[in-house]
Amino acid sequence: MDDEAVRSTCTLVCDLDRLKTETMVRVRVGGLDMLVIWNEGEVVACDRACPHEQADLGLGQVKAGRLYCPRHAASFDLRDGTISSGWPSSPLRLYPARVTAEGISIEVQQR
Ligand code: FES
Repeated sequence: MDDEAVRSTCTLVCDLDRLKTETMVRVRVGGLDMLVIWNEGEVVACDRACPHEQADLGLGQVKAGRLYCPRHAASFDLRDGTISSGWPSSPLRLYPARVTAEGISIEVQQR
């Protein structure tokens, strides 16, 4: 039996109007640096560090449902985090995000 409890926390990070205006907002939740992205009418939350070599994806670009890394120009599918073909990297980690009356909240699970 796993003796470490998994704790899930929801954190309010910004309001929807700001995200629609800026497209990408940098946030820190539970000690993790993340991005909140307005992607084709959906809110996406993901790690800010590129899983390839940890470039700052906050300096990247969002186009046609993909987040482009500023260092090597690999891109990530914002529906599931998969990286473009040919790159030896794990997928980009995504987090559950919800729009509530108060704004956008991100759910993070921690041990
Ligand atoms: S550091 Fe992002 S693709 Fe290489």
